[in-house]
Amino acid sequence: MEKFVIHGTGPLEGSVRISGAKNAALPIMCATILTKDKITLEDVPELKDVTLLTEVLRGLGVKIEHPEPNTYIFDASEITNTTTGADLMSKMRASFCVMGPLIGRMGRTENSLPGGCAIGTRPIDLHLKGFRALGCSVRTEHGMVCAKTDHLKGSTVYLDFPSVGATENIMMAAVLADGETTIDNAAMEPEIVDLSNFLNKMGAQVRGAGTSTIKIKGVKELHGCRHQIIPDRIEAGTYMVAVAATGGNINIENVITSHMRPVIAKLKEAGVEIYENGDTINVISNGTIESFDIKTLPYPGMPTDMQAQFMALATLAKGTSVIIETVFENRFMHVDELNRMGANIRIDGKNAIVQGVHKLRGGKVRATDLRCGAALVIAALTVDGKTEIEDIYHIERGYENLIEKLEGLGAHVVREG
Ligand code: EPZ
Repeated sequence: MEKFVIHGTGPLEGSVRISGAKNAALPIMCATILTKDKITLEDVPELKDVTLLTEVLRGLGVKIEHPEPNTYIFDASEITNTTTGADLMSKMRASFCVMGPLIGRMGRTENSLPGGCAIGTRPIDLHLKGFRALGCSVRTEHGMVCAKTDHLKGSTVYLDFPSVGATENIMMAAVLADGETTIDNAAMEPEIVDLSNFLNKMGAQVRGAGTSTIKIKGVKELHGCRHQIIPDRIEAGTYMVAVAATGGNINIENVITSHMRPVIAKLKEAGVEIYENGDTINVISNGTIESFDIKTLPYPGMPTDMQAQFMALATLAKGTSVIIETVFENRFMHVDELNRMGANIRIDGKNAIVQGVHKLRGGKVRATDLRCGAALVIAALTVDGKTEIEDIYHIERGYENLIEKLEGLGAHVVREG
C-alpha cells in the first residue's frame, strides 16, 4: 500500500502554482456530452478522478484525446451507450453528473446508484427531483437509477438544500429542454459559475449562476468551444493553511482571490498575514496561531472542503477552537487520526472542540478521505520527525503534483510502497 513519508522541515518558503479546479473540471467534462462538436478543455488537473471520468465518458462513446498535460479534446459526436455501471460509479461518485447531460442529449440514462463514502450517505434525491420536474420518469431498481423522457420540458425546481451536484445535473439536463427552467435555492459555488460560463460558450442560455436562482432557457442544440478551467480554491486554501501551520512565507500563484474570502478572513483572524497581489496571494506566518471558530456552510460560507485542513491548524492554536460541520453528516474522520498525532480534539455531535497543543508528534496515520489526507499532510509538515500517511490514493485524487509542489516549498515528502 503506497504511503507518504514526511519529515517536518520547519517553515515553508517559496512559490506554488495552483492547478485547475477538480470540482469544476468534472461536471464540465460531463457537459461535453451535450454537443456533437469538438470541445477543448485546458487547465484540467491531472488527477485520478479525471482519469476515471474519461473512462466513464469513453464507455458512453465519447472520443477523448489528451495531446498534452492538462489539455483534453472531447468528441461526443456519437453517444453509443447511455448506461454507466457500478464499477466506475463506485470509484468516483462525481460520475453521477453524466446523468443530466445524457438526459439532455439522449432523453434517457441508466446509472448505477453512486455509493456513499467516508463523509456521508451522499443521497441523490434532489437530482432525481429535478429530472422528474423536467418530465423524466425516474425509477430506481436493483441498484440502478433509470431516467427516461420523450420530451424534456422546462419547469421550476426548488432545492431543499443548495446541492452542488444537483444544481449542476439539473442545469445540464435543462439546457436543451423546451422552455425555461428555474432552479430555486441553487448552489452558488464558483464551480457552478464556471459550468454556466462553459455552457453559455456552447450556446446555452444560463443566467443567474452564482446566485440562488438560476434560469435556463432551452435551446435547440449546442456547439463546440474551448474553455479554461478556473483555479482550484480548495487546493489554494490548503497551501495557505499549511504555511500558517508551519510558519514561513510563500506565494500562491494562479488564484481567484474573490473565491477565497472565507479562508483569507479566517486565517487573518488566526494571526496570519495575507497580501493579495492580483492572481497571487502572499502568506506570511510566524507559526503562532490564535484560536478560531469555524462553521462550514454552502458558498459563500466557509467551504466544508476546508474543514479538515483548518482543524489541523487548530490543533496547534493557542487556546480552544470550535469547528462545526453543517454540510456533511460524517466529516470528522480526520479527528481520530489527528488525535493519534497528539492533538486534543473532542467531538460533540456536529461540533469538534479543539484544545491547542504545543506540538504534534509523528507516527503512522491513514487518509480516510481526500481532505482528511490533506489535513494529515499539513499536520505532518509541522512535526519534528517522521510521519507516515497510508492510503494516499485518496489525497492524489484532489491534489495535482502534491510532492513536487511541497518540495518546491522546502518540504521533504517521499512516496513509498
Ligand atoms: C460537491 O459534492 C463536491 N464534489 C464536494 O467536494 C463538496 O464537498 C460538496 O459539493 C459541497 O460543497 C464535487 O464537486 C465533485 P452536495 P456534492 O450535493 O455535489 C446533501 C471534495 O472534497 N444532498 O452539495 O456531492 C448531501 O447529503 C468533495 O472535493 C442531499 O441531501 O455535494 C450533503 O449533506 C467532497 N440530496 C449536502 O447536500 C441530494 O440529492 C451537500 O452535498 C444531494 C445532496
